[in-house]
Formats: sequence, C-alpha cells, structure tokens
Amino acid sequence: MYEDLRGKSVIVTGASSGIGKAIALRFGREQAHVVLNYNSNNKPIQAMVEEIESYGGKAVGVQGDVSEEESVQALIQAAHDNFGSLDVMVNNAGIENEVPSEKLSLEDWKKVIDVNLTGAFLGSREAINYMLENDIKGTVINMSSVHEVIPWPHFVHYAASKGGVKLMTETLALEFAPKGIRVNNIGPGAIYTPINEEKFQDPEARASVESMIPMGYIGKPEEIASVAAWLASSEASYVTGITLFADGGMTKYPSFQGGRG
Ligand code: NAI
Repeated sequence: MYEDLRGKSVIVTGASSGIGKAIALRFGREQAHVVLNYNSNNKPIQAMVEEIESYGGKAVGVQGDVSEEESVQALIQAAHDNFGSLDVMVNNAGIENEVPSEKLSLEDWKKVIDVNLTGAFLGSREAINYMLENDIKGTVINMSSVHEVIPWPHFVHYAASKGGVKLMTETLALEFAPKGIRVNNIGPGAIYTPINEEKFQDPEARASVESMIPMGYIGKPEEIASVAAWLASSEASYVTGITLFADGGMTKYPSFQGGRG
C-alpha cells in the first residue's frame, strides 16, 4: 500500500477487463478516486464501482473510445467534475489481431495504431495539459509491451504501435521533466487476460509461450497492477522515461537460459 495514493484522482482507460480492471481495482484498494473508462463493455463497471467504494475509494464509469479526441477530453473532464483533480493517467486500452503482414489491410493497421498509439498520445496530451494548467506534478503511465523491443511476426501493427509508445513516452518524459510530470511505460510480458484467453486455452500454444518465459508461468493482471501502483506512488518519485518490464524475464533472451549459445 502507498499512503500517498489515497484520495488521488486516477483515470484508467480500458478498465472493464484484464490488466485495466486489475489496475483500477488496485487503485481502489489504495483508496484513490478512479475514473473507469470503458468502450463497449459496461457490464463489470457497476460491480467495480461498488468494490472500490467498499475499499474506501471512489469510482465512476465513463464510456469513451480512446482513439477519439472528444472522448478523451470527456475523461479528463469527468475526473475534474467528480474528483476535482487529475493526478494519474493510465493509458491502458489496447487491441491486437493476428494477420500475416502481407495480408494486413490498411483498415486493420489503422485501427490498432489509432487505439494503441494515438489513444495513448491523446490520453497523455490531455492529461499533461490538465496537469500544466493546474500546476499538478502528476504522472502518466502508458501500457506498452515487451513488443516495444521484441519483433512479432503477424502482429506488425501491434509491434509498431508499442514501439511508437516507447519513444513517445521517452520524449514526453524529457519534455515535461522540468515541470515535475513523470511519464513511464509498463512493458508486460504474457499476461492471462481476455486479449489472449483463446490462445492460452490451447495447451500447445500455452506451453510454447511458457517456454519463452524464464520464470516459467504466464503472469497475472495483478502483477502488472502492482507495478502501476508503484510507478504512480511517490516511491517512484525519481523515475521517468523508462519502460518497466514485468515479463518474468521474457526480454532477457530466454533461449540462452541454459548457458548455450
Ligand atoms: P483486454 O482485451 O482485456 O483489455 C483491453 C481493454 O481495452 C478492454 O477493456 C477493451 O474494451 C479496451 N478497449 C479496446 N479498444 C478501446 C477503445 N477504442 N477505447 C477504450 N477502450 C478500449 O486486454 P489486456 O491484456 O488487459 O490489455 C491491456 C493492455 O495491456 C493493452 O494495451 C495491451 O496491448 C497490453 N498488453 C497486454 C499483454 C497481455 O499479455 N495481456 C502483454 C503486453 C501488453
């Protein structure tokens, strides 16, 4: 638990499932005030609001597509109207789909870039604007991926979006460090969520992914949420412009693990 997160105003995009849901609930446990953004799936939202309130936090659900400027502006407004501030912006919403690159349509390319990269940009820009206007030394956390550094055949749009998020975050961190605004990425490895549930239900596919994880297991959303809480807390006060990989060692060349090579 991080005492200084109590009462902080936080936005989490894509909060209705997977990593976003775990992050939102974790901030709730920290007794923060959380805007729960969802796009189409509002079913879990009411129960999440109640759960967060049961921890002593506050929450409100707000519909919005992160790739649309007005939706993102409405999220910031919701944080302001409901909680009087914005201290932490978590740009978590993301999508992926598997397509061999030579068959990838322009439409599919744009969809993934629009949500994963442009969405994170809009969320960062709007949050930073609000923080500058209100003299808040806040923090922005973008959900990148191990695929900001690991190439991923059949997911060229996804890898390109996360590679973009890497340099976007580093640039924003540099630009706003003098204002005390910290901007960081989390780079999850393979985490069991709806984005890959189908794949991991196939034992062969699951074993193949596990073989690429030195720690030997697929991560849990809560293991990413704890990283988000730390990055948002004052314990990370001197940390900006990094990607904190939480990947069980996936980025550390697992094929070398046995000392061969
Ligand atoms: P998920 O599919 O459970 O969550 C993604 C969320 O984003 C969903 O709630 C979805 O409704 C929302 N979303 C999609 N498009 C949206 C839009 N236009 N506007 C607002 N919300 C939108 O998947 P997961 O795994 O929780 O993904 C969260 C983030 O973590 C994504 O950015 C993903 O790329 C990233 N990530 C996930 C990994 C994994 O293994 N699960 C690994 C590395 C990164």
